[in-house]
Amino acid sequence: MRKHAMALGGAGLMLGVSLMAVQAQDLTAAVPDAPAFAAQSQPNFVSLSDILEYKALPEYHEPAWVTSKYVDAGTLPPVAERLPKEPLVYKTGDMPDGIGVYGDTMRHVIGGRPEGWNYIGGQSQGWGGIDIGLSECLTRTGPLFEVKADELEPMPNLAKSWEWSEDGHELTMHLIEGAKWSDGAPFTADDVMFYWNDNVLDQNVSPLNGATPETFGVGTTLEALDDYTIKWTFKEVRPAQYLYAMAYGTFCPGPSHILKPEHPKYSSNTYEQYKNAFPPEYMNIPVMGAWVPVEYRPDDIVVMRRNPYYWKVDEAGNQLPYLNEMHYRLSTWADRDVQAVAGSGDFSNLEQAESFVESLKRSAEDSAPARLQFGARTIGYSLDFNLSANGWGEPDERGQAVRELNRNLDFRKAISIAIDRQRLGDSLVRGPFTAIYPGGLFDGTAFYDKASTVYYPFDLAAANNLLDGIGLTDTDGNGIRNYPDGGADVEITLLANTEYGTDTNLAEGVIAMMEPLGLRVIANFQQGNARDDMQQSGQFDWHIRRQGSEMVSVVQGTANLAPTGPRTSWFHRAGTGDVLDLLPFEQELVDTVNAFIATSDNAERVDLMKKFQHTFTENVYSVGLTQYPGALIINKRFANIPAGAPIFMFNWAEDNIMRERVFVPTDKQGNYELHPETLPGAPGSDGAM
Ligand code: GLA
Repeated sequence: MRKHAMALGGAGLMLGVSLMAVQAQDLTAAVPDAPAFAAQSQPNFVSLSDILEYKALPEYHEPAWVTSKYVDAGTLPPVAERLPKEPLVYKTGDMPDGIGVYGDTMRHVIGGRPEGWNYIGGQSQGWGGIDIGLSECLTRTGPLFEVKADELEPMPNLAKSWEWSEDGHELTMHLIEGAKWSDGAPFTADDVMFYWNDNVLDQNVSPLNGATPETFGVGTTLEALDDYTIKWTFKEVRPAQYLYAMAYGTFCPGPSHILKPEHPKYSSNTYEQYKNAFPPEYMNIPVMGAWVPVEYRPDDIVVMRRNPYYWKVDEAGNQLPYLNEMHYRLSTWADRDVQAVAGSGDFSNLEQAESFVESLKRSAEDSAPARLQFGARTIGYSLDFNLSANGWGEPDERGQAVRELNRNLDFRKAISIAIDRQRLGDSLVRGPFTAIYPGGLFDGTAFYDKASTVYYPFDLAAANNLLDGIGLTDTDGNGIRNYPDGGADVEITLLANTEYGTDTNLAEGVIAMMEPLGLRVIANFQQGNARDDMQQSGQFDWHIRRQGSEMVSVVQGTANLAPTGPRTSWFHRAGTGDVLDLLPFEQELVDTVNAFIATSDNAERVDLMKKFQHTFTENVYSVGLTQYPGALIINKRFANIPAGAPIFMFNWAEDNIMRERVFVPTDKQGNYELHPETLPGAPGSDGAM
């Protein structure tokens, strides 16, 4: 129950309430129920074995022009020789529209910009599904949204099978045998070991999606037994949880035959040179994914053509992908929605609440070129406090003072209750979309427990009292609180991503709501890649962040739920001497998350996540702002789009819909291919051949 001074006698009394009384107040309330909002389609739940298997088929096929222009001309081996011994075979029964036909293009529009192709070396490819499509990982989790809950386990991918040792400390994985990179070079355990030894374990390298040794458990080792067998050794017993970390984005090896010669350990390059060795202009980077970049025009487009060595097929033996080409128009994220709705683009994750009403209106018409399908509330934002007081991001004196405030519970509580979440959500979009997000796990997801969620509702007067109580008062009368003993004004910078209107709108909302609290919050709005760098290196006081999959699924990105390692948390990483200065409740969070990882007993896991949620929200670890559903917008000509595909759960929709088995029926195919009847050229050569 909410009990506060207002109930005792109105606002006038508030002024007379003593500090003692304020501290004794219970500032919490039950989390308000989210407005009902039904997802528009439900997945057809299946077993993993219904989706795929690995086996040799009696015959294989490819587009006719590949045979005639390349195989017959002797520039490409026959398709059977390009495929692994046992390709990954998608089962027809799980393909909504069955076996497909070749042709056409998926025209993506994205707001990011590629830094280059060295994903494992830390470069962004511009997001929006580019890196998801280029990277194949040991396991795969995006499509798990359609797997029966009691059979939930990562899908095999580059690792086609695995077994645990009897004592549960060792996991032996069998890699797909005889698969090749898109340039024909063999994929082997060497690629896996280069990724592990020289990118994950080498602390001078920061792989793009944040893989660190602790992502796979403290003290974990990995070795190659032969070309196609690798062995993990864990301190924990049977930590099946790490199979999720072996999916996108933390265990997707790069082409070691191309990257290794540029790595400082094997060359005279610096780490910076290694990271930047494959700029966006470098074409035909070898990938294990279904399409290879063959054209790049800055601020215009990235074009990809089918990978002739792709190692997945359908049950009729047709080599995938069905789509010959992929486009990524380099525009803005808001334009992605507009173009997908208008039909000049093919795909969007409608995730910026500001665009909902317009997009819904336009796609409701029968003649609309795209389908728009809302899912559950899996998009949410938090306000993160930088909690390192020992040097992460090298703060100056002002920054250091903010870090100390960030570490004070009354301060964090004050910020949380000074935010009117209802107003903030409504400022993005009115209607049943946004819901109050107290922080931590999202409402409506498997491990969420309302009773374990501590919610501090909006209460500006109490927020002001809390700040008074910790000695922050406006001593110079300029409307901004000062640090104690005649200290400076409290000035805080707020990092946010300018690529998304939602991020900056929320940031502006927060800034405005801090004004009546007497805090000067200054916008530090940065373009996506710069924002990522500042966040990764700890150069922020506060940060507006769209939440990762750990808050939706818990099992994906689990190590990010708390500072389980020096570099696993979004807002508290190790400072000087690689030391983490954890607050006592953070240590509890770490212990809870580690216990979660170490057990596969579901009842125990449920209890541990209740504890996690309670500790997280009671201590306002970060301030939840708002959560809302997203919609998948996809052009109606595409077939094999699985029912109920969420835009974000274990991964983004670009992975969830399994683009390699998506196709366009012949009578609906458009004339969109920019490089028809061509294949990728040699690595580093100009364009398609
Ligand atoms: C960006 C977009 C998301 C999704 C991801 C995929 O973050 O905002 O909708 O496309 O990229 O990486």
